[in-house]
Amino acid sequence: MNITREFIDKMPKAELHLHIEGSFEPELMFEIARRNQINIPYKNIDEVKAAYNFNNLQEFLDIYYAGANVLQTERDFYDLTWAYLQHIHKENVLHTEIFFDPQTHTDRGISFDTVIKGIHKALEDGKKQFGISYRLIMSFLRHLSEAEAFKTLEQALPYSSWITGVGLDSSEVGNPPSKFEKVFEIARQAGFKVVAHAGEEGPAEYVWEALNLLQIDRLDHGNRSLEDEKLVKTLVDKQMALTVCPLSNLKLKVVKDLKEHPLKTMLNKGLKATVNSDDPAYFGGYMNDNFWEITQALNLTKDDLYRLTRNAFEASFANDDRKKEMIRQLDDYFNKS
Ligand code: ADE
Ligand code: ZN
Repeated sequence: MNITREFIDKMPKAELHLHIEGSFEPELMFEIARRNQINIPYKNIDEVKAAYNFNNLQEFLDIYYAGANVLQTERDFYDLTWAYLQHIHKENVLHTEIFFDPQTHTDRGISFDTVIKGIHKALEDGKKQFGISYRLIMSFLRHLSEAEAFKTLEQALPYSSWITGVGLDSSEVGNPPSKFEKVFEIARQAGFKVVAHAGEEGPAEYVWEALNLLQIDRLDHGNRSLEDEKLVKTLVDKQMALTVCPLSNLKLKVVKDLKEHPLKTMLNKGLKATVNSDDPAYFGGYMNDNFWEITQALNLTKDDLYRLTRNAFEASFANDDRKKEMIRQLDDYFNKS
């Protein structure tokens, strides 16, 4: 069967790799900047979009952190999160696990409470109004020190019932997982799930470190794992899920062309790959665009799509009943179409 856009759009899905600050659409950025009387270095939305041309991860991060500067109040974080939820509700996303980067905000004087209260309130409203279940993952910025990550972990402890896991993001090369071994150990002991970006731009060695030193429950990106056969075998044996982000990989030049994207190879090797949007406002697409573009580029089959979406439900941090319910909806969808 030829996969249609409609089939992808209506497919029940879970998103496991989404930076809430990366869902900040230029329209909302202008609105919040006006409200907070902040100048942004763009005249209009076209100018913003023209600036979204990246040669690597760092070029993107510089613009992404600049955009996040506009966010100041609890309402701003609520509006940001609410806009994302409205978007994914239309895309049949049943469950989402979102990253937030507290240090991006606390380092410029915005309190941890302001950030998390706005995000959490919107997530609760999304659950009530749209039935979207969620998990929140706090990411440490790896270009900062481990001592600063410890400070952030301490700020998070009063909110530990709102935070399911900790992650590691930002500039990968030169900031290996080993730099954060101790803080992740304490986070694990405190009951947090553990994930980390590794093997996006950084080498397979960083993925080994994420596995062995951080003891991750899930691997974010992981593309460069394919350079090491022994690592691939280990990931397959552990049934470690990879949160793969096709349009992000294209926009950040992790791959030259989506036709060269390793997603199908990952599935063929038995890796538990999933599809995610990463920073949809910056990379030109939310979940459905990611699924659609990669399906076309790699000629993915209905079996591949089933595998990818089922992997996401299984690898999510949702409770077992919710997982079962979502997988039931997925099976119904594939059985009737
Ligand atoms: N922060 C937001 N998006 C990111 C990505 N793709 N890699 C590392 N850090 C990020
Ligand atoms: Zn990411």
